[in-house]
Amino acid sequence: VSLKPYNTFGIDANARYWVEISHEEDLHTLLQLTEFIDQPKLILGGGSNVLLRHDFSGLVVKINIQGIEVVREDDTHVYLTAGAGVSWHELVQFCVRQGYAGMENLSLIPGTVGAAPMQNIGAYGVELEQVFESLTAVHIRTGERKTFTHADCAFGYRESVFKRELKGQYIITSVTFQLNKQPTFHTRYGAIQETLAEMGVSDDSLSIKAISEAVIRIRRSKLPDPAQIGNAGSFFKNPEIPKAQFDALKTEFPDLPGYPMGDDVVKIPAGWLIEQAGWKGYRSGDAGVHTKQALVLVNYGNATGDDILALAKQIQESVQAKFGVTITPEVNVI
Ligand code: EPU
Repeated sequence: VSLKPYNTFGIDANARYWVEISHEEDLHTLLQLTEFIDQPKLILGGGSNVLLRHDFSGLVVKINIQGIEVVREDDTHVYLTAGAGVSWHELVQFCVRQGYAGMENLSLIPGTVGAAPMQNIGAYGVELEQVFESLTAVHIRTGERKTFTHADCAFGYRESVFKRELKGQYIITSVTFQLNKQPTFHTRYGAIQETLAEMGVSDDSLSIKAISEAVIRIRRSKLPDPAQIGNAGSFFKNPEIPKAQFDALKTEFPDLPGYPMGDDVVKIPAGWLIEQAGWKGYRSGDAGVHTKQALVLVNYGNATGDDILALAKQIQESVQAKFGVTITPEVNVI
């Protein structure tokens, strides 16, 4: 089976076995099938955060469990559970339509609900963990079903327990979110303020719908549409460096942007480092660096996973040489 339609990088790698799961019961059945027990397994949601280096000689499980359901409500919150296969943006749109606040800044992020907690997706000042209540997952080896609370997930910046200690061990089947009946607007990001102003939205007419629209506009203007150009969003994470190192770099590169994370650590935009190292818009064969966002690596058509990875390595080395800063991939390299 070609995985090309199932990864947003559009890498043409093959899987030995392929199965699509639409109901949790089918997952339990699958995990007991003796012919599959010893196969290496790759769990796919929207395939929007993976780079497939080569063919996968095992079983690819595409999770397609659907459904959005309000499960509970109190004076201030609405709790809803969504199947792991629900498209993330569809869920956001559902919430915006219903007036459930909290996810609007996360509009138009590619991928599925089940994949979202893995890397604690985030954008424009909001992270998934701010609206996360719990999730259910099935252990790949034992088939045991487990509920994970917020604390269990150990969320960090683009991190969770599912990328660390429990990597490759669980399949997320559904996620429960806690949304707000009264919105708190997150408009600290300059780009959001500018776009709202362009849209003619004032403080009085501000709404979660307006924020969602603003985010959609910003993303469309900067990020390549995977349907047109293969990509997996930001390829690298924004590195966090000690404040002393930041101050030293700042004297050499006065324009270096930085966001303090507490007193001793500064987060710096990898996109800036990569652009300053001369990579923005670079292309070698079909592997390239997006013309409008240097943090996004792109496949112009027939790049292989190894082509993209080779480019990523060159970029890492050049950023290391120029700035002494290590940048690490955000996408999962398989
Ligand atoms: N910048 C450049 N050149 C570039 C790109 C960025 O100089 O080519 C600098 C600019 O100074 C800019 C700053 O980097 O002000 C930040 O850029 P941007 O707002 O585009 O955000 P980012 O830090 O590059 C992160 C997330 C994105 C998320 C945006 C908005 C990570 C790894 N990426 O990108 O998430 O949409 O912020 O919140 O944290 C993703 O994870 O796939 C993703 C797209």
